[in-house]
Amino acid sequence: MILVTGGAGYIGSHTAISLVELGHSIIIADDFSNSKPETVEVVQKITGKSVATHRIDVTDRDALERIFQNHQLEGVIHFAGYKAVGESVIDPIKYYKNNIISTLNIADLCVKYNVLKFVFSSSATVYGDNASPLTENMMLLPTTNPYGETKAMCERILHDISIANPQMQISLLRYFNPVGAHESGLIGENPNGIPNNLMPYITQVASGTLKKLSIFGNDYPTIDGTGVRDFIHVEDLAKGHVAALEHLSEGVHIHNLGTGKGTSVLQLVKAFEKVNQIEIPYEIVERRPGDLAKCYADVSKAERELGWKAEKTIEDMCRDAWNFEKNLKSKM
Ligand code: WQD
Repeated sequence: MILVTGGAGYIGSHTAISLVELGHSIIIADDFSNSKPETVEVVQKITGKSVATHRIDVTDRDALERIFQNHQLEGVIHFAGYKAVGESVIDPIKYYKNNIISTLNIADLCVKYNVLKFVFSSSATVYGDNASPLTENMMLLPTTNPYGETKAMCERILHDISIANPQMQISLLRYFNPVGAHESGLIGENPNGIPNNLMPYITQVASGTLKKLSIFGNDYPTIDGTGVRDFIHVEDLAKGHVAALEHLSEGVHIHNLGTGKGTSVLQLVKAFEKVNQIEIPYEIVERRPGDLAKCYADVSKAERELGWKAEKTIEDMCRDAWNFEKNLKSKM
């Protein structure tokens, strides 16, 4: 049995589907602060399996411990955490409390109940302004925001826990830019409020919810001056988690989950327009503070050690993201 914290969230729900489809039994723990209970119903509909769900805040150790006491867990995939970069700058205490305490609670209970497998949702943000392509053995550099710092701190905490508890099998997965949606169009990225991230902003411009896209700077040293990122389809990301879980062994294992390819903001916009035959009005504006020019992965380690490689294309990501947005809009 695998406990999936934040399993009703964007990446968590897609991973929950992959886990069940690949034969794992799971439990979801989610406080629904940035997700919806209906998403779990869709996970059940897509997989045809019922999924036990506990509405809990994973910073509540007693509530979390009851799950460990009542279930024979073999592992945890820990997604539950706040992830809005801008918000973390405004409210660092909220981010340090939630993201650090939740990870400490889970690790503490894993050691106490001998739950050996722990997969942690980390982020490419921990690389700071290291030069791309980014490799897992790089020294971590300061990030530009408390969100990124919580991820780097949790990685360090888990390293120390591994040294003290060598039986633990810990995976740190560093995501690049997850985008897209399940091929069914029934689940996808549906952030609360105005999207911070590029793809949901584009899909909301496409659907008419938002008027036009602001492109944050076109004077970066990149192919067309706009930021370059490693966009990865959320379904590839989900499969990467299952591969990491199934290949776990004692110690700490770090893997980039990206495609290894850099795509610029303008290239993504043009790909979206072409694939979906929709115009995306945009305006070039000032750079966004804290943004890097380029951020993309070296993905050879995950391929070598996990036998995992992202398969979906930028076009797949644009098509699936738009398909989900249309479904969402049709329900409003
Ligand atoms: C991508 C590019 C922007 C919005 C962040 C977090 C990272 C992860 C993913 C959580 C950049 C440009 C964006 C817009 C734009 N989050 N952009 N107009 O900043 O690479 O990564 O989200 O795990 O940890 O740091 O993603 O989608 O915000 O930006 O021009 O309205 O799109 O400047 O070049 P980012 P993003």
